[in-house]
Amino acid sequence: MSNKQKAIVCHEVGSDLSLELIDIPEPGPNEVLVKLHAIGLNSLDWLMRERGSFVKEWPAVFGFDAAGTVVKAGEAVTNVAVGDRVMHSGTLEEPQVFTFKEYTVIRSDFVAQVPANITLDEASTIPLALATGAFALYDSKHPPRGGFALTPPWEANGRGKYVGEPIVIVGGASSVGQFAIQFARLSGFSPIITTASKHNEAYLESLGATHVIDRALPLADLAMRVAAIAGRPVLYAFDAVSTPETQNAAYDLLAPAGNLIVDRRFEIEEAKLASGEKYVALVSGDAQNLPSRPCATALYAHMTELLATGDIKPNRIEVVPGGLLAVQAALSRLKEGVSALKLVIRPQETL
Ligand SMILES: NC(=O)c1ccc[n+]([C@@H]2O[C@H](COP(=O)([O-])OP(=O)(O)OC[C@H]3O[C@@H](n4cnc5c(N)ncnc54)[C@H](OP(=O)(O)O)[C@@H]3O)[C@@H](O)[C@H]2O)c1
Repeated sequence: MSNKQKAIVCHEVGSDLSLELIDIPEPGPNEVLVKLHAIGLNSLDWLMRERGSFVKEWPAVFGFDAAGTVVKAGEAVTNVAVGDRVMHSGTLEEPQVFTFKEYTVIRSDFVAQVPANITLDEASTIPLALATGAFALYDSKHPPRGGFALTPPWEANGRGKYVGEPIVIVGGASSVGQFAIQFARLSGFSPIITTASKHNEAYLESLGATHVIDRALPLADLAMRVAAIAGRPVLYAFDAVSTPETQNAAYDLLAPAGNLIVDRRFEIEEAKLASGEKYVALVSGDAQNLPSRPCATALYAHMTELLATGDIKPNRIEVVPGGLLAVQAALSRLKEGVSALKLVIRPQETL
C-alpha cells in the first residue's frame, strides 16, 4: 500500500476544493485506520468551506461522517479488528480525523460495527445525525449545551418510559429530525408531532411520527395546532432545523417550565431567553465533545444493535458518482436543499 492517499483540500475560506495527495496516517494506541468506502455529506461540510465555521487551521480537509473497513488497528484496540465494517464520525477537536479522503484514523471507542442489514453507503450517513438526534433527547443538561437528559431506550426501563408525554420535533424530514422521531418512538412519547413538507408525511409516520403538520402553514399558528393535537401541556420540543423563525415558534408552543433543544446557535428573542421561564440548550452531535462523552460512549456501544434490530432505520440515500471530485458540486446541492435525503460520495471511485 502506498503511503499517500487522495484527499479534497480547501486552502482558504470560500475557495474551490482541490484534489491533492496527502500522507496516510498511522493509527496510534486506541485508534484504527479505516479505508473509507463511503462519506456521508452534512450541512456542516459546506458551512466549513463557505464560512470557515469551526475551521481551526488552513489548508483544511472537511468531512464528518464515513464508513469503511478497518485496515490497521493500534495497540489496545479491542472493540473492532482488521477487516471489520465500521462507521464513525469526525470531531471538531481533531481535524486529522475528517473524512474527505480515502483513509482516516479514528479513536476506536467512537467507531461502531456496521450490521449486515445496513450497507456501507447507508452507514456513512448515520453517525452525526443519529448522535445529534439521540443527544437532543438523552444527553445531560450542561447549559448552554446538552439535551433533555431523558433515560435512553438502551438503559433499563428506558424503552417506552415516556408514554403519554407529548413531544414536538420541528423539521422531522431533516436527517437529524428523522433520527429524533425514531428515538422519541422508542422512548414511548405520544403524540410525536413534527413539521415537514406534505410529501414527507407518510414517510415520517413510518418512522414513528403520529402527526405531521405541513410546514407550509404559518408558524404563528403552530402553538395552536400543537395544543389541539397534544391535549395537554407540551414540555419537550426539539428544533431539528433551527432557523430563527422555527426556534421562536418552538419556544412559544412549550408550556411554562418546558424544555427546548435547538441544533444551531440560539436565535431566540433575548427577552424570552432572559426570562428563564423555559429551559433552552444547544445540542452538539460531536461525540467526542467532553460533556457529551458519557452519552456518546453509551450510544456507540448500542448503535450496531439499534440498527441490526431495525429499531433505528437509516435515512434514504443517493450515491453521487465521481468520487472525491464530486464533493464540491454535491455540497452546493446540499446547500440548495435536499428533502429527506442524504448524499453519499465514494472516495475510492476518484479518478
Ligand atoms: N448541533 C449539531 O451538532 C448539529 C449536527 C448536525 C446538524 N446540525 C444542524 O441541524 C440542522 C439539520 O441538519 P440536517 O443535516 O439534518 O439537515 P438536512 O437533512 O439537510 O435537512 C433538510 C430537511 O430540512 C427540512 N426543513 C428545512 N427547513 C424547514 C422548516 N422551516 N421547517 C421544517 N422542516 C424544514 C426539509 O424538510 P421537507 O423536505 O419536509 O421540506 C428537508 O427535508 C442544520 O441546521 C444543521 O446545521 C447540527
